[in-house]
Amino acid sequence: MDDSAFARLLALKDTMTPWALRAVVTLGVPDLLADGEADVAELARRTGTVPEALHRALRLLAAHGVLAAPRPGVYGPTDLSRLLESGHPMSLRPWLDLDGAVARGDRACVHVLEALRTGRPVHERAYGRPVWDDLAADPGLAASFDAAMERRAAALAPTVVAAFDWSSVRHVLDVGGGTGAVLAAVLRARPALRGTLFDRAATVAAARAAWGATPEGRRCAFVGGSFFDALPRTADAALLVNVVHDWPDEHAEVVLRRCAEAVGAGGRVLVVEYARPDDSAASPSGPLELDLLLALVYGGRLRRPDELGALADRAGLESTDVSAVTDGLILMACSVKEPCSRAASR
Ligand SMILES: C[S@@+](CC[C@H](N)C(=O)[O-])C[C@H]1O[C@@H](n2cnc3c(N)ncnc32)[C@H](O)[C@@H]1O
Repeated sequence: MDDSAFARLLALKDTMTPWALRAVVTLGVPDLLADGEADVAELARRTGTVPEALHRALRLLAAHGVLAAPRPGVYGPTDLSRLLESGHPMSLRPWLDLDGAVARGDRACVHVLEALRTGRPVHERAYGRPVWDDLAADPGLAASFDAAMERRAAALAPTVVAAFDWSSVRHVLDVGGGTGAVLAAVLRARPALRGTLFDRAATVAAARAAWGATPEGRRCAFVGGSFFDALPRTADAALLVNVVHDWPDEHAEVVLRRCAEAVGAGGRVLVVEYARPDDSAASPSGPLELDLLLALVYGGRLRRPDELGALADRAGLESTDVSAVTDGLILMACSVKEPCSRAASR
């Protein structure tokens, strides 16, 4: 038997590391270690856990370099655990917290076999309703989802600011813009630009509370609603960051069409999201994992630049700056092909 093949497969089948990581993050251990080392008894006392059980999880994470283990039974921070602290600006905690929306979606993925057999998302099978209805029913869950997206959006924002020629844009509508980390960065970089943040009502309200009073917030309208309905018509450019990939083609096409209708003739629609890599053994696994997760939790998918271009075409858009792909991202600028009918329906 090929030992290395055996070892690689065993590493791939790892059940416990992903869940031990989530549990330890949920317990706040990285925060407790932020100022330095602590022993297991102290960590167990402060997290309300059983020392011997907690120790087994900590040992496993230390073996992966998530925690330092300077002495037996004593743990400390590492570069990795710093990224799991609540206060870190790029904290991954909202992506791993077992009480949050993202981990709730991850748990639904235990039904992967059913998803492969039916081709349908399994979030509803796990929780009785599709993911967006689930979030709408629980403000705490929705806020945890928004917090996770905000971290990723903040990391993407400089790329979006640099990717497009904003000089010819007067007013940008960020559709499904979450709490507005990208839009705020664009407005900050372009002081003459006005903006509208459009998302679910609660998300937009949280955004307004967080940055509505800043200089860029005062140049921004905060509008709640559904992007399957008519969008505000005040902008000459619409921005969709990591939104289209949440939806199957028929829904994604409607969102793009709503954007085209909103900006009208002469307007532009800018799409930013991760590209599906070409089918080849050399493809990085990260986007492929995201592609499968999107299918299971949201019913969405990653698309190649040509697939996204074809979808835009069907929605009445023409991709003008065809799909620069940077670091796995598609950055697609489209113009509106023809006056779009407001009658198009979902
Ligand atoms: C994956 S997040 C991306 C958020 C943000 N653009 C970013 O890059 O972080 C998708 C966004 O779509 C929003 N969304 C989902 N369904 C929606 C709908 N029907 N109408 C408006 N927004 C919706 C969610 O609230 C969420 O903020």
